[in-house]
Amino acid sequence: MNYTVTVLPGDGIGPEVIGETIKVFESISSRYGHQFNFRTGVIGGAAIDQFGTALPDDTLQMCKDTDAVLFGAVGGPKWDHVNAAVRPEQGILAIRKGLGLYANVRPVKVYPAIINSSPIKPELLQNVDMIILRELTGGLYFGKPKKRWKTPTGKRRGVDTLKYTEEEVERIVRMGFEMARARRKRLTSTDKFNVLESSRMWREVTTEVATDYPDVELEHILADNLAMQIIQDPERFDVIVAENTFGDIISDEASVLCGSLGMLPSASLSGLTSTSTSGSPTVSLYEPIHGSAPDIAGKGIANPIGTILSGAMLLRYSFGLHEEANAIEASVEGVLAEGYRTADIASVEDTVVSTREIGDVIAGSL
Ligand code: IPM
Ligand code: MN
Repeated sequence: MNYTVTVLPGDGIGPEVIGETIKVFESISSRYGHQFNFRTGVIGGAAIDQFGTALPDDTLQMCKDTDAVLFGAVGGPKWDHVNAAVRPEQGILAIRKGLGLYANVRPVKVYPAIINSSPIKPELLQNVDMIILRELTGGLYFGKPKKRWKTPTGKRRGVDTLKYTEEEVERIVRMGFEMARARRKRLTSTDKFNVLESSRMWREVTTEVATDYPDVELEHILADNLAMQIIQDPERFDVIVAENTFGDIISDEASVLCGSLGMLPSASLSGLTSTSTSGSPTVSLYEPIHGSAPDIAGKGIANPIGTILSGAMLLRYSFGLHEEANAIEASVEGVLAEGYRTADIASVEDTVVSTREIGDVIAGSL
């Protein structure tokens, strides 16, 4: 088969980790006989430098006219002034919104070979296998008003708005129930019901949707308490559904279980199937959960596994290539078992390999 993939390397370590993922795709293409046509788009800080905007129209159009999008990372100190009108992050936020990617799927899996890379006791990590389902186009990230201003006496003010509609809550929660139903049948919904009105609405809608899923056990947990339990007893979670900001925070926290932020992939989807309710095919985006890591950019030491595993999710969700996706995941697991480690997941006794070297062995063992 012939597939077009729009690739957005972005800033910092983005181009390095994307480079290794393309290498893995090329290996898949020669082994399984698929043809991947890659088109590269400009986004983030690189786009600000060239075009004065984090998401040029051409880039958004390329994301619409494609079969799937593979994204690296955006941002860096060069563009980090607190008063900047344009910021690299606007690029990825605008694509999420522009493609209607309301569901961000973040699987959290601990690889036995690197269990000691986590600061958490290994006995707590034996059976960790959860999915954090993060709402991605609403809540605090997008609610209006969102602005800063000065009072007539020159005092600074700032506001962000945490707003949801019941439709937005229902679609993400329903997806959470569907995913849980196909797994261990446990859905954890997180909120700040004790403080926030939007959370009270979220919990009410979630409880209503639950009546359609009597086979799935639903529990509600306050977000602060979840932050504690995810470390204290991570094995008990199956699918966790969360508001945009809560999901952002707890997924970075959950990455500690896996030894490194560099290990976690994600898929941003506009539904569970690749066809929208209007019947037209939808485009999904795949990205590691880490950022651009400017401190290590250009050194060739970044961990490309989160991006490579995002590539596997792309093959599975967007192209239905399950065998190929499984092969990539098995290759990653095998390479870790053989002892290959980038610096972020290495213990003192391990030999550290570069971004390229680990990419080579993952692609080579396919
Ligand atoms: C993520 C990142 C982004 C987010 C940033 C880069 C805007 O942290 O994908 O988790 O906050 O969503
Ligand atoms: Mn994040």
